[in-house]
Amino acid sequence: MATKADKRSASYNQIESGAERAKPILHQSAREIQPYGKIAKLPIALDEKVCAASAENLNQVLADTITLRDLYKKHHWQVAGHTFYQLHLLFDKHHDEQDELVDMIAERIQLLGAISLAMAADIAETTIIPRPPRGREEVPVQISRLLEAHEIILKEARTMAAQADEAGDDGTNDLLVSNVIRSNELQVWFLAEHLVDVPVVHADNVKAASSGR
Ligand SMILES: [Fe+2]
Repeated sequence: MATKADKRSASYNQIESGAERAKPILHQSAREIQPYGKIAKLPIALDEKVCAASAENLNQVLADTITLRDLYKKHHWQVAGHTFYQLHLLFDKHHDEQDELVDMIAERIQLLGAISLAMAADIAETTIIPRPPRGREEVPVQISRLLEAHEIILKEARTMAAQADEAGDDGTNDLLVSNVIRSNELQVWFLAEHLVDVPVVHADNVKAASSGR
């Protein structure tokens, strides 16, 4: 004799029958279609070795750009003091601009036939930007830390741009010069001016200026 549970399961089977092809197939796994470090060449008229060398360089800039982007968000949240509002906004603007660079760099790596780094653990292993403490820091320390990170990226980007130029990889050279270098230089200017120690209300050297000295 059919129990209540049997009847219920028969009724579920009836409800599901005919919908098998619409059901999601869950918990799938398989081998990667491309291991990290290998090139799946695209018809872009660039030698595989050039693609591999550019991708390796770009993955380093990518890891450092992701780290700088996240450092901006950390400082956007943790900034304190009487310049809170302007720096809160500036840090977020720079974060968003770095985020655009992240996407440009990652997609260039993919179109070179390589694989872009993506996950936090891989970024942490690869970046050469020093890890900041978890706690809050004073504004001048935040800005100094950001400037140092910018300079690390600018230094490697200049070297890598020259290497890409030498290898005939114009696209990578252009990305590094027109986007990475130009954006980072501009952001350095906006930050560094905050560390110039000028008075806000009373000008220094008033006497010297009026006496013509
Ligand atoms: Fe926010």
